[in-house]
Amino acid sequence: MPSPSDPSARASHQARTSRAPYADALHAAAVRDSQFLCTPGHAGTGSGVSAGLVDFFGEHILSLDIPPLFDGIDLGTDTPKDEALQLAAEAWGARRTWFLTNGSSQGNRMAALAVGTLGTGVVTQRSAHSSFIDGIVLAGLHPGFVSPSVDEVNGIAHGVTPDSLRRAIAAHPEEVTAVYLVTPSYFGAVADVRALAEVAHEAGAFLIVDAAWGAHFGFHPDLPASPVTEGADVVIMSTHKLAGSFTQSALLHLGDTEFADRIEPALERAFMMTASTSENAHLMASIDIARRELVDAHDEIAASLDNIRHLRAQIEGSEHYHLLSGDFMSFNDVVDIDPFRLPIDITSTGLDGHAVRKRLAQEHGVYVEMATATTIVVLIGLGKSPEITRLLAALDEIRLEQGAAAAESSPTSSSRASDIPPLPQAGALVRLPREAFFGESELVPAAEAVGRISVSSLAAYPPGIPNVLPGEEINQETIEFLQAVAASPSGHVRGSADPQLRQFRVVKE
Ligand SMILES: Cc1ncc(COP(=O)(O)O)c(C=O)c1O
Repeated sequence: MPSPSDPSARASHQARTSRAPYADALHAAAVRDSQFLCTPGHAGTGSGVSAGLVDFFGEHILSLDIPPLFDGIDLGTDTPKDEALQLAAEAWGARRTWFLTNGSSQGNRMAALAVGTLGTGVVTQRSAHSSFIDGIVLAGLHPGFVSPSVDEVNGIAHGVTPDSLRRAIAAHPEEVTAVYLVTPSYFGAVADVRALAEVAHEAGAFLIVDAAWGAHFGFHPDLPASPVTEGADVVIMSTHKLAGSFTQSALLHLGDTEFADRIEPALERAFMMTASTSENAHLMASIDIARRELVDAHDEIAASLDNIRHLRAQIEGSEHYHLLSGDFMSFNDVVDIDPFRLPIDITSTGLDGHAVRKRLAQEHGVYVEMATATTIVVLIGLGKSPEITRLLAALDEIRLEQGAAAAESSPTSSSRASDIPPLPQAGALVRLPREAFFGESELVPAAEAVGRISVSSLAAYPPGIPNVLPGEEINQETIEFLQAVAASPSGHVRGSADPQLRQFRVVKE
């Protein structure tokens, strides 16, 4: 967020924000001459059974592994951790921020539990992450759904429009306590958070934004605005995804809105229910340091953005590949695009995206974020400026080999784009998710699962958007889609009873 314009206020602001108080306090404790006769059992040294850990990680990592409630770090009031949390809240424009050590998955469960302490009616984007659905089950919420717009050709779900949200709130049989939306999407499409917040607020509901992919928003004028400053009440962000902290570290922000006083105690209770009592110090220190870097990263982000413009031009200039994000703005729910994601149409290879993703990794050592039938998605970390010559050369090699193989054999190869069916329509929700999840269940063969009520949340992964929710009727299209994803080279279905989805867990009749 912008620093003050007055020079002396700016200097003192910079002196504060250029520190990482939690990480600094951790470091001071780690280098002190201490003897640890407490958890963690490795005691910060490589003696005895911990020699292997030191060989692998180095001794400093062990000595930084300091447990919670430690004097001088986070015990008592006005601690370095409190200061680090306050600096994070200021950096993202929040009233209050929590460090999360179990990812945005924890933030989503926490948000759902907080809703549950205030009411049960919730309207959720149907393409919610599975962790929010888990939260709905845990909190016993009654979800109504708002469908995102879908690019049918590429099987991509975008975001929702204010009008569709208004209709979904009006259609819910209960009073709606909260709305849950995902923006940016898995493919980098950004929804109009300000307008969506107004619609939720008009209905007396607070807005939860799952911005797992948007922790870098707002840190440069050429990036989309942070949802926290766009009027959302609760915002969840995986700082580990693009913003530079360690895997599993994330943030939950409480916006400075008219709903904040009501939600804050609910969030506090929900945090206690979802956090470990032994939160990992490395993860929290990595958020503190990532925040310090982000607030001062204008030039690195500008360099990264210049590089991305070059990469985009390289892809568009190639004869065979095409960036899908150029078409996103034609969808009426999309108001902006995250430049750090490059969804590339790879149909020219003659293979589906899952097969291409797997071959890129196995044969070329190139790892991309995710795939659909027609696309691979490249993700660039904030402030990074990689080259993609290696990726494009690998794609060319795969395309030429595939062309040669197709010329020799029948064209019914098992991994052509057409083998993954289109994104299926969700079945009707006929039970509350919690009732279905905790009810008596049985396993049935796939052929007998059609028309039965699912007990499980089943999500093609990545990206982890559930295609079936607990309480929803299972339909034929969904079975075929999930089986095809599971059979594809890099596909995986989270929550399935067996890897090939031969059986489904359903509510016992
Ligand atoms: C939209 C969305 N929300 C939440 C999550 C969970 O994030 P994490 O992996 O940090 O737990 C993901 C993960 O991919 C996601 O895509």
